[in-house]
Amino acid sequence: MSEHAATLSIEGLRKAFGEKTVLDGLSFQVASGEVVSLLGANGSGKSTSLRCVVGLERPDAGTITVGGVTAKPGEAVPEVAMVFQKIHLVPRRSVLDNVCAGALGRLGLSRSWSVLAFPREVQAEAMACLDRVGLADRAREKAGRLSGGQQQRVAVARALCQRAKVLLADEPVSALDPAASEQVMNLLRSLADDDGLAVAAVLHQPDLARRFSDRILGLAGGRLVFDSSAEVTDEAVADLYRPALEAAASMASTGTATKEFA
Ligand SMILES: Nc1ncnc2c1ncn2[C@@H]1O[C@H](COP(=O)(O)OP(=O)(O)OP(=O)(O)O)[C@@H](O)[C@H]1O
Ligand SMILES: [Mg+2]
Repeated sequence: MSEHAATLSIEGLRKAFGEKTVLDGLSFQVASGEVVSLLGANGSGKSTSLRCVVGLERPDAGTITVGGVTAKPGEAVPEVAMVFQKIHLVPRRSVLDNVCAGALGRLGLSRSWSVLAFPREVQAEAMACLDRVGLADRAREKAGRLSGGQQQRVAVARALCQRAKVLLADEPVSALDPAASEQVMNLLRSLADDDGLAVAAVLHQPDLARRFSDRILGLAGGRLVFDSSAEVTDEAVADLYRPALEAAASMASTGTATKEFA
């Protein structure tokens, strides 16, 4: 793969749930070293697109290529990891064990880690990943005792221990306070800049998207409405959310929202 080739390439992705088309021919690319943000109203297909990439949903059509290799629909790709708004750590296990879990796929131990002591070399790699996110000193604590922002960084360390080349983040900072959000976004940025990861993050904060990403993708109705490396105007962002705001306003004006209080 050439230096400028996209690490992640999505072409013509389609997905319907029953009658409802959720992804309507979505295409975009994320190169190594790039942070791309996805913005769009609730239900516009942001999570579904990332879930297709990571194999949690099976697309009806389209191709997903990672590092030049086309993924099998609905199957996980080892080079792709995902972090979520609701952080999926095992709270009673140590921080280090949670990071080691990133290596389960290549160890072929996906179901048995609750009774497993991880090999020494995996623990050493996990420590290095924890160090990368600034939490090496918390390795022995139970994951559930860390703050939300710290837990999100542990989830990122687990992705690194998976040796991910592509990091997908679905609202990684929506549950975090401003300082923790800033730390997590700085971390994602530096993983792209310093480690060459391709990062795609769903955000509901246009300002964070502007500050931390190289490109902003606007999604509406499962389609791309803009893909911009230049400054995205306030109007373009407002357009993404306008239909939902108009629907809310019309509910309010017909009294749906206020009736009970009349
Ligand atoms: N498993 C499912 N079964 C049925 N419908 C689904 C399923 N998953 C998602 N949908 C529908 O697909 C549409 C897109 O959902 P998706 O979660 O991708 O939106 P989103 O852009 O991530 O929204 P949000 O900002 O609320 O997270 C929604 O209408 C949702 O109800
Ligand atoms: Mg979502």
